[in-house]
Amino acid sequence: MSAGASPSAQRLNLVIGGHVDHGKSTIIGRLLADTGSLPEGKLEQVRATCVRSGKPFEWAFLLDALKDEQAQGITIDAARVFFRTANRSCILIDAPGHIEFLRNMITGAARADAALLVIDAKEGVQENSRRHGYMMSMLGIRQLAVLVNKMDLVGFDRAAFERIVEEYGRFLNRLEVRPAGFIPVSGREGSNIAGRDPRTGWYRGPTVLEQLDGFLPEAPPVDQPFRMPVQDVYRFPQHGDERRIIAGSVEGGVVRPGDAVIFYPSGKRAQVRSLEAFNRDRPAMARAGESAGFTLEEQVYVRRGELATLASQPAPRVTSRFRASLFWLGHRPLAPGREYLLKLGTARVAMHLEAIHRVIDAASLEPAEGAERVERHAVAECTIALGRAIAFDLPSESVATSRFVIVDDYEICGGGIVREALTDRQSALRERVLLRNYKWESSLIPVERRAARFGQRPALVLITGEPDADRKALARELESRLFSAGRSVYFLGIGNVLYGVDADLERTLEYRREHLRRMAEVANLMLDAGVILLVTAAELTQEDLDLIGIMVDPEQIETVWLGGRVTTDIAFDLQVEAADPEAGSLQVEALLRTRGFIPAEP
Ligand code: GTP
Ligand code: MG
Repeated sequence: MSAGASPSAQRLNLVIGGHVDHGKSTIIGRLLADTGSLPEGKLEQVRATCVRSGKPFEWAFLLDALKDEQAQGITIDAARVFFRTANRSCILIDAPGHIEFLRNMITGAARADAALLVIDAKEGVQENSRRHGYMMSMLGIRQLAVLVNKMDLVGFDRAAFERIVEEYGRFLNRLEVRPAGFIPVSGREGSNIAGRDPRTGWYRGPTVLEQLDGFLPEAPPVDQPFRMPVQDVYRFPQHGDERRIIAGSVEGGVVRPGDAVIFYPSGKRAQVRSLEAFNRDRPAMARAGESAGFTLEEQVYVRRGELATLASQPAPRVTSRFRASLFWLGHRPLAPGREYLLKLGTARVAMHLEAIHRVIDAASLEPAEGAERVERHAVAECTIALGRAIAFDLPSESVATSRFVIVDDYEICGGGIVREALTDRQSALRERVLLRNYKWESSLIPVERRAARFGQRPALVLITGEPDADRKALARELESRLFSAGRSVYFLGIGNVLYGVDADLERTLEYRREHLRRMAEVANLMLDAGVILLVTAAELTQEDLDLIGIMVDPEQIETVWLGGRVTTDIAFDLQVEAADPEAGSLQVEALLRTRGFIPAEP
């Protein structure tokens, strides 16, 4: 079966945009009525209600009435409207505001194949006509028809239509968007929606429905490299089942049993054992546009937010810095010095604005020089810095894994697309760790079995603090306590590293970095063996911790600051002020318990 033959591939996903009141809802109502997609008697019922209440009929009321009764969920659900043209079924997304529009275009309802942009013939091109056009171009929607609406208000005048074609055509041209066409319509009177209107005899192009049939549903990108952002990892421990199912939506390419997959940013590698499906036979493959779940031959540890790829195909980018084009919709401007949340694929990561290269007014396309922040409704080219590295692609490689949204205070306030991956301070080191993970010999013993045997999950406990705090006393006391309680625990003294693993190191400026790297690699080995490892170091900084976090899974690290005075910028998990090692070790033990590294007290 070819991809084109399946019914879902034939369905056209549409978005509709335009300035407030230019007639989006009216046109949607018309499309539903003229394609026979309305429930029996619905139109008459709404008309009758209007007559009874003495209100003039509005097509938008029809949509409201449909939204009110979810019973006809096939015509409308949330903001999505379903109808059929001569050749295919369509889903049309009406976004009442910018935020919804942007969110729909970037996430979920997302992958719009084509867009309709509505412009009021009398009012002409307005700000939002341009902004929506800009968003469409930025997010890569290639098929666009411009509907010049309310032609009845300008007496179906050709010159009025041509003026808008000229003005808006010029705007789109600057965005390098080539519209499929401009169509003179009247939503209210039904002109050129399904049938032609003789009053626009001068217009030779298609009606709206004909234009929709001319658009091509974009086939899911099965021929691109395999990309699946990991949505969830399911386990079934209650059935004594050690399988983990890695689940997500396939954004590009195809995956089959036997394929070698690599997860990024971790670089962990494994082989697909089987594809799994809920309540149906195991599929032979999963392809772009489908949800997938698979098990692995090796027991590698992956989690939500990673990007699954194939070893035989081009790798994604992995870094914590990139250049992006973005659209800002927040009431509060986007500015440096503030922390935001960035969502890309299934990854969620803290971000801040490192630099603004240029800001453009999306309506006028005028650039503003030297802008220090990005105001609401502006578009900007920026450098974004993330709290940790994530995996993504460039739009020329895979659009779905290059789009992101920005959350400020729990609300989506902007979105955009990655333009260029930039290196960060850890890039060189990360390359080495990617290679190390790629070459890693995974044990046949699953992490869970090792954990069950030892009655603990492996952890790296970093004990840092003021220079004169007695970290070693705390570490020794903690080691004894945990050991007596039956844990597999080891205190790695600094001397054990300095004169052994570090023996060849010269005490230069780069020395500390390399020392930490080696210590972290040793820790990584011991954690893989299932041990709880205690390490002490004076005055660790956040940068030190970030560095260690490249070698050791940050989820397995707990940091303890010893002493009443905090002298570095490190974000620790626990502060121990008590000088008494016994009291301190009780505190750390409690932390390990709450974090689930050691069992709760019986
Ligand atoms: P928002 O959702 O609020 O952004 O508006 P909208 O774009 O959905 O516009 P809507 O369809 O609600 O129409 C706004 C007003 O324009 C309504 O009063 C419609 O009756 C009127 N209108 C829409 N299309 C036409 C048309 O073709 N001719 C005339 N004369 N009025 C129209
Ligand atoms: Mg509306």
